[in-house]
Amino acid sequence: MGRLEGKSAIVTGAGQGIGRGIALVLAREGARVAVVDINPDTAASTAKEIEARGGRAIAIRCDVGIRSEVDSAIAATAEAFGSIDILVNDAQRIIGEINVEDLTDDVVHQSMQSGFMGTFYFMQGCFPYMRASGGKIVNVGSAAGTDGMARWGAYAATKEAIRAITRVAAKEWGKYGINVNAICPASMTPAIEAWRKNCPDDYAASLAHFPMGRYGDPEKDIAPAVLAMVSSDFDFVTGQTVMVDGGASVLR
Ligand SMILES: NC(=O)c1ccc[n+]([C@@H]2O[C@H](COP(=O)([O-])OP(=O)(O)OC[C@H]3O[C@@H](n4cnc5c(N)ncnc54)[C@H](O)[C@@H]3O)[C@@H](O)[C@H]2O)c1
Repeated sequence: MGRLEGKSAIVTGAGQGIGRGIALVLAREGARVAVVDINPDTAASTAKEIEARGGRAIAIRCDVGIRSEVDSAIAATAEAFGSIDILVNDAQRIIGEINVEDLTDDVVHQSMQSGFMGTFYFMQGCFPYMRASGGKIVNVGSAAGTDGMARWGAYAATKEAIRAITRVAAKEWGKYGINVNAICPASMTPAIEAWRKNCPDDYAASLAHFPMGRYGDPEKDIAPAVLAMVSSDFDFVTGQTVMVDGGASVLR
């Protein structure tokens, strides 16, 4: 029997990369998973993969930065599965390589809307479903935020805003048995592949910070940590950030 048997989960940004890995692992452990992504094709493909492996999933196209779409996604999940016990806010429009003096309103808006506002909308929308019998929320930050990575101002600020609301909600919702935590991952994904292609020197230099000499794998390295965080193993842990990064943050 899986560790999440009987639970229902929403994973945003689950069409590819880290979100996909998390969706696959939660489903493997018995959770019914709503695979949410702005890209309907990749969302459908992850959901199909889950079903092909014997799990249960629905695919939902949703721009997490639009509240009405988030509300519809939450309603569709509750309708399909009857409850919402787990929320993983992974979706993010990743925009970087811009100095602070060159950041435009549009770049900051896109980053905040897809990252912070999407996380906030889903947390608020899922709260009524978790209030009665508890729940687990995992949000996704970044070492770009904790370190203050040069040329990643909008993204770094977005990720720190996400970690801030994680701590605040943990304080407010602890009494309802809702655990709210965050991860800062480091994993090979389509986003990192694109960065490696565009900025090969930065990518090569980044590897020097990895005690294990590599980026993680979404399914094998990142998702198992999230699985622990959404299981009863984390019943007494809330408001925390877990660096799931092969120790990269230790060496910086
Ligand atoms: N890969 C890493 O090493 C790393 C490091 C630090 C933080 N992160 C964070 O981890 C998360 C996943 O990163 P990844 O590398 O897998 O990225 P990715 O770009 O490969 O995947 C992100 C997914 O989110 C979806 N998405 C983007 N905007 C959306 C929106 N508005 N609504 C719904 N879906 C949307 C994309 O379609 C995509 O499927 C992100 O929050 C990212 O900031 C990743």
